[in-house]
Amino acid sequence: MILADRLERLGTETAFDVLARAQKLKDAGQDIINLGIGQPDFATPETIVEAAVKALRDGHHGYTPANGILPLRQAVAADMAKRRNIEIDPERIVIVPGGKVTMYFAITMFGKAGAEIMYPDPGFPIYRSVIEFCGAKAVPIPLYEESGFSFSADEVLGKITDRTRLIIVNSPANPTGGVVPKAELDKLVAGLADHPEVAIMSDEIYARMVYDGVPHASLTAYPEIEDRLILLDGWSKTYAMTGWRLGWAVWPKDLAQIATRLAINIHSCVNAATQYAGIEALTGPQDPVDAMVKAFDQRRAVIVERLNALPDVRCQRPGGAFYAFPNIEGTGYKAGDLQERLLTETGVAVISGTSFGIQGEGYLRFSYANSVENIERAIDRIGDFLGRV
Ligand SMILES: Cc1ncc(COP(=O)(O)O)c(C=O)c1O
Repeated sequence: MILADRLERLGTETAFDVLARAQKLKDAGQDIINLGIGQPDFATPETIVEAAVKALRDGHHGYTPANGILPLRQAVAADMAKRRNIEIDPERIVIVPGGKVTMYFAITMFGKAGAEIMYPDPGFPIYRSVIEFCGAKAVPIPLYEESGFSFSADEVLGKITDRTRLIIVNSPANPTGGVVPKAELDKLVAGLADHPEVAIMSDEIYARMVYDGVPHASLTAYPEIEDRLILLDGWSKTYAMTGWRLGWAVWPKDLAQIATRLAINIHSCVNAATQYAGIEALTGPQDPVDAMVKAFDQRRAVIVERLNALPDVRCQRPGGAFYAFPNIEGTGYKAGDLQERLLTETGVAVISGTSFGIQGEGYLRFSYANSVENIERAIDRIGDFLGRV
């Protein structure tokens, strides 16, 4: 068999490998604490599960429109009005099986040999993977620990060339938990006026998980880029629905049609019952979301304090999501080696910063979507490990 060359450029998401290895060790009887995987440890709220069961009982078993059922797109539009204060025509909304699909669609729409796409580094690994898969040049936007893992708008604007087609922004961010301050977004958008051909994809999948009373700064707040902004959001994190595979995007009108055509070519539609669950999630009680975010906030305080108390480790206080990204350079370990030894010798699964880009060396990603008790136990074990070597 002679496969297409582009497959050699396809990357992966190491969190899934670590999850599989951690599970194997667990199955073999080891006491594993998994701070590796990026998904809420809460169950999907009961009312949402019931809405899906009801949809199945009501006979919603067939294909739906490829861009999603209208009541779901209307519910998304209402949510956009409520939380982002913006009126969106439901025809610009495309429902997809997870936020990742929007990412893949957006990158493949712009990515080709000769094109440049900018992406955050350290960042969600799939951005770079798909950019390179398409044959485009992946241009990293460095995120700095000193500035809470935000980017510098001046640096982003300075990297734009006549080949730049798309800029990817992610706030709050995976893997750092960093939040880009509104002032930096203001500067970026102002500078983009000089580059009207450059599109922007704003990955706001963690928009509901911002702490310290800071309102989430969304790129949808800037009407001057509305005609070239792709908003990526979804249900996975906010409603603890990672396994349901449900996401939404708001596209510029013409691109919504292309996204829908891609959906028809690839998955036809999201499964119908899940779409009904999505309506209930957006329109039903939000207390479970508030409770979950409150729990994450409490765990954030614990993990940051405990990480900073470890020898030769320092950790910024992340402004959002459910990740901490401590600097472990002082321990003398390479991040990949420390990831490996922590898993095999202490039973704690975390992810090496190098899984998230060039800038990730010297860091580990901890997901604090786990109980305070487990976080405490994990860091006790890491403390023993670092103390003993
Ligand atoms: C920044 C970011 N964007 C998108 C996604 C994809 O989410 P989904 O599970 O909805 O595809 C993730 C998942 O980890 C993420 O961290």
